[in-house]
Amino acid sequence: MCGIVGYVGEREALPIILKALKRIEYRGYDSCGVLVQNQGEMMGHKEVGAIDCLVSSLPESGYEGKIAIGHSRWATHGAPTVTNAHPHLDCNGEIAVVHNGIIENYQSIKEGVLCDCIFKSETDTEVIPHLINICLKRKLSPTELHSGELNALQVKEAVKEALSYLRGSYAILVAVKGFDGLVAARKESPLILGVGDREFFLASDVPAVLDQTNRIIFLEEEDLVVVEKDSIYIENGGSEVKREESLIEWTIEDAEKGGYEHFMLKEIHEEPKAIRDTLMGYLTEGRINLGLDFIVDAESILLVACGTSYYAALCGKYIIENLAKIPVRIEVASEFNYSDFVLDGSKVVAMAITQSGETADTLTALKKAKGYGCKTVAITNVLGSSATRLADETIYSRAGPEIGVAATKSFITQLIIFYLLGLFLSKMPASVFAEHINELKRMPQIAQRVLDEVNIQKHARYLSKYEHTFFVGRGVNLPISLEGALKLKEISYIHAEGYAAGELKHGPFALLTEDTPVIAILTRDDIYEKTLGNVKEIKARGSPVIAIAEEGDEEVEKYVDDVIRVPRTSALFSPIPNTVALHLLAYWTAKERGCEIDKPRNLAKSVTVE
Ligand code: F6R
Repeated sequence: MCGIVGYVGEREALPIILKALKRIEYRGYDSCGVLVQNQGEMMGHKEVGAIDCLVSSLPESGYEGKIAIGHSRWATHGAPTVTNAHPHLDCNGEIAVVHNGIIENYQSIKEGVLCDCIFKSETDTEVIPHLINICLKRKLSPTELHSGELNALQVKEAVKEALSYLRGSYAILVAVKGFDGLVAARKESPLILGVGDREFFLASDVPAVLDQTNRIIFLEEEDLVVVEKDSIYIENGGSEVKREESLIEWTIEDAEKGGYEHFMLKEIHEEPKAIRDTLMGYLTEGRINLGLDFIVDAESILLVACGTSYYAALCGKYIIENLAKIPVRIEVASEFNYSDFVLDGSKVVAMAITQSGETADTLTALKKAKGYGCKTVAITNVLGSSATRLADETIYSRAGPEIGVAATKSFITQLIIFYLLGLFLSKMPASVFAEHINELKRMPQIAQRVLDEVNIQKHARYLSKYEHTFFVGRGVNLPISLEGALKLKEISYIHAEGYAAGELKHGPFALLTEDTPVIAILTRDDIYEKTLGNVKEIKARGSPVIAIAEEGDEEVEKYVDDVIRVPRTSALFSPIPNTVALHLLAYWTAKERGCEIDKPRNLAKSVTVE
């Protein structure tokens, strides 16, 4: 997904911009570019491929300067080419823009107000510098226009007028020849401002600038910002506004690999800590405080999410309905957004589950739920993300920064939030509540035991030789089988399907052969015998079966080919050890196949387009 960075200050800007772009490589991109203002000259350079290619193809001189912008692009309009890479410039090469988001009406702008302009790229973004150019010309007298110097007010007003033409989403940085600063603006796309000593950093996300400063301003929806090395000015709705700085406590080390070969492995190993941190945030002396007292009045809950977060939500439905006996409806955000949904918002609390807090479909769903009059809650892992700004309330999952594209520790902390929510909403007797809390408090240790005791690598070696697999489970472990399949397919490229164990016989049986291993979650719950029955049916069709089963369950060995043993918990909490085991299985299988684990092909960490 696109990333933007900018610098204004007293140091050489280019090395700072390049380092910042490297730090956000995890977002996924296919081309990149930088632009430095060198003594009033606009020096741009772009490349297809990695930041390292950009660095090695940069000329040795000509890119000195104290103001620069940079961009990593994930193609949406136009192929990943040098021409389509950002920054984009106006026809005179004097106004440069990097952009994250989508301008929906760019075609009509090209045919309308910009009909005389010649465009170089196929991008939606290129209309922005051209628009700023015409707006600037409208505002300046001929003397001002030819003076070669521009002030902050002139540039800000031109950018503001240009933005009024745009429909869609954007976080933009604008550099203008003759102006010693940058202008930035955001609408439905994240943008942060890092504050240093006589210097400022602008970026789409915090890790981009965290090695330079931990003083961060999270810009609000429709903020327009002007930064010069000694000043910052923020405007919203036509008036100046003050935005508070947050001190970010994540260290750079937090965001680095910490000795593991891949971020994903490090992040799986952080699952026990992430669970503990999340519990600590909301659980004191056996009492749950989510800071959301209004949800106790909800007659039902609506959960909207995408991808892995959707599977967490599906698990959340089982958990909340079991513990709190409140009906929960869950919707894939991209479907909910365009459905004829009937909803009485006064009775429903809508929750958006999104680790990044930036997933476009989920944000749209949140807006739609608000439109129905629902009270809204964001469950997210990213402080200051767009979801937190949109929702009435936020519950943070405290997983810490997650760099690997595949969600792991953020997923498991989403599950923990659902246990907390279910218990918070429950009306169970105090003694039963206390038993559940005690079980919940064991989860960091249970997750740790999976990491310490389960020898997953032998199973991964076995699985890595196949091209097709099924993951099956029932009840609260159905979503966990879906998650296991998603994780395996996205990082190992093995075709994996998650299924309700009882459903295979309704069609997928036709695919079962000795070359389609099945991973079956066989937790000792109320329907254990039924799931075991499903496994026997699968075995009878010739597929090898690996079970994920609890220690002490000897029976299962009679019916399957191999067993991944996980610590015993009460059935409702079994998704925690099962998830850790499946995350490890996906990781080690992908490693066995030599895949590029942290950045799987075609995927991005946050999906900010619909
Ligand atoms: C898979 C994965 C994705 C995300 C999905 C939603 O490992 O990470 O499926 O879960 O793109 O992202 P968020 O949770 O940021 O809304």
